[in-house]
Amino acid sequence: MAGFDFHWRASADLISVEDYRRRLRRTVPAMVWNYIEGGADDLLTVAANRAAFERLAFNPRVLAGVDEPHVSCEIAGVPLRAPILLAPTGFAGLAHWTGDVAAARAAEQWGTRYVISTMSSWSLEEIEARTSESHFFQLYPRTSELTSNLMRRAARCGCRVLFITVDTPVIGNREGERKSGMSRPPVLTPARLANMARHPGWLYNLLRHQRIAGRNMVEGGGLKSALQSVDIQSREFMQTSLSWDDVCWIRDHWDGKVFLKGILTAADAQRAVAYGFDGVVVSNHGGRQLDAAPASIDALPAVVAAVAGRAEVLLDSGIRRGSDIVKALALGADAVMIGRPYLYGLAAAGESGVRAVLDIVHEEFVRTLVLLGVGSLKEIDASLLGDRPL
Ligand code: FNR
Repeated sequence: MAGFDFHWRASADLISVEDYRRRLRRTVPAMVWNYIEGGADDLLTVAANRAAFERLAFNPRVLAGVDEPHVSCEIAGVPLRAPILLAPTGFAGLAHWTGDVAAARAAEQWGTRYVISTMSSWSLEEIEARTSESHFFQLYPRTSELTSNLMRRAARCGCRVLFITVDTPVIGNREGERKSGMSRPPVLTPARLANMARHPGWLYNLLRHQRIAGRNMVEGGGLKSALQSVDIQSREFMQTSLSWDDVCWIRDHWDGKVFLKGILTAADAQRAVAYGFDGVVVSNHGGRQLDAAPASIDALPAVVAAVAGRAEVLLDSGIRRGSDIVKALALGADAVMIGRPYLYGLAAAGESGVRAVLDIVHEEFVRTLVLLGVGSLKEIDASLLGDRPL
């Protein structure tokens, strides 16, 4: 995409998701760093998401004669190069002004799909005009006029798969965000403005392209629109009274597949299947909502058992390595989604940064399979994981 871009390009010293994470700290102001990296309360679930993956050990199988593992798959009826999707993230334009358009283009060129957030920095129509595949749409649920309108627009823009996020009746208590001024509405002090000025590339693009509002809510850029979109978000989308009736209403009014994102228990998974949802995403929102919610990888086995093959099961929250993807698939997930990792890539180098991050986790994923002696997704099961934790 045309536009002046001060940012560092992907380079030889960016070879892991962690490298891109460190780069993010240098590239964006403290407010944005806290927005992307932060989590709820004491960050217990943020830490648990990583710790739970790190505890899992593999059982390698040697001399298996594996050449190149076959990892292509189908999720929601859509063929993918590998079981890796890009999770919805609101206000992605804060990481890099090209935001959702860059992420969606990187996803489709790479061979997967982007889940467009309700709070995307580019509108559904703008994304559709700049991409060639049909991407997925994430909805913060409510049976209001605004929600029906968003569903109509998403369908008109070619989205066939809807992800209803069910873990956000209110926004989690993200103290890091609040302390750095990234509250709703944001609070700009002289010190925070000075901090922004120390990131001239980011600031230039912010002022020039104004991708700070939720553009599905309001038309214009600029601070006023951003505040307006945040206001609409808190008034219209954060609904403490949401119920299964509401999500069923949405399912009945959507011509396509519907997933529930944010399921962590067998009981809720069973209900989702009983009500006819096509899939669930085992997710704790990257530790940004209920603190002390279980790590998603710990919650996965019970959900997989409850679903019993009657719906697709995705997992997100804490994936940072290709080996984490193998662990999630070994415990029964059909695919995973990554959130922060592609935002790190986006902040570093726009569209090519997102592609680079996808390449990194994919390469690690395939290498892990070869080291485990696994030749295809069908061969991945719980026997790959050791009985004892690391
Ligand atoms: C999110 N997430 C999110 N989820 C959602 O359903 N709608 C949204 O608008 C957002 N916005 C959002 C913003 C940012 C900055 C982050 C980091 C996350 C949650 C996201 O879809 C996903 O569940 C987590 O990001 C997964 O965890 P990891 O991969 O970030 O550890």
